[in-house]
Amino acid sequence: MLETLTLTDWRGPYDAAVKARAVAALERGAVLFFPQLPFVLADDEQEFLDARVADGKAKNISLDHTSGKMQASSLTGEKAARLAAMIERFGVGATALVADLLPYRDVERARTSFRPVQVKGRSYSKIGDDRLLHIDAFPSRPMRGRRILRFFSNVAPNSSRNWHVGQPFEDFARTFLPRVGPHWPGKSWAFDKLGVTRGRRSRYDELMLSLHDAAKRDSNFQQNGPHEAVSFPPGSSWLVFTDQVLHAALGGEFALEQTFHLDVDQLAEPERAPVKVLERLSGRVLT
Ligand code: SIN
Ligand code: FE
Repeated sequence: MLETLTLTDWRGPYDAAVKARAVAALERGAVLFFPQLPFVLADDEQEFLDARVADGKAKNISLDHTSGKMQASSLTGEKAARLAAMIERFGVGATALVADLLPYRDVERARTSFRPVQVKGRSYSKIGDDRLLHIDAFPSRPMRGRRILRFFSNVAPNSSRNWHVGQPFEDFARTFLPRVGPHWPGKSWAFDKLGVTRGRRSRYDELMLSLHDAAKRDSNFQQNGPHEAVSFPPGSSWLVFTDQVLHAALGGEFALEQTFHLDVDQLAEPERAPVKVLERLSGRVLT
């Protein structure tokens, strides 16, 4: 479930044996855990370890590296620029690590986020509550089978980030697929036309969203479904396919996160991708 890599450097070259272990573990649904890879804040960045840097509405502060635009921060002016620079430095570091560690040639760097709010105390809707076990699926951004890979660093000085990690994707899908009702094909078309989604959802996107919601709504699964507790201490980092690995964030504050997207044909073992598993189980083409 956890594959520990003792890297201490954000840049390669890394050992061939380490790289082979990393890609195999990641694609089989393990969390790559880097206990000795801290993202170090500069002295004048310590002030950002404060929940008030967030606007109090969104879960995360996010940075779009293509435009440099930061969202959901309460900061303005020079402070906002320094916070954006910190998030950007993390994003660049995570991107270099992924490029040097994994064999994927074409990885898209998506949003970077800073998560300064204690997970435990917030209030959430059930579907928006990431303290419940789920796989990641974006309501507004259709993936059409593309993968979601996320790199995290815990930058909290004292508190661990605590997750639960659930059963393998295929076991989960076998249980929940039969409960997912048919999709109204007009819906994805209408959502696209109305601008609810950026582009049209494929059957894959609809299924993944249904699985995400069904898991969160099932309180028996949440309480009694198979899972293990994993604790990411201060100064550690981790990397995981969050569209494949059931996860819940139960507690912690001050994490940074970089999202990547990649096509299934980049994978060493494409058959393990959620889209391939769901196509096999449902007997349908989903994208
Ligand atoms: C999530 O992706 O569900 C949240 C992970 C985290 O913020 O630790
Ligand atoms: Fe998630």
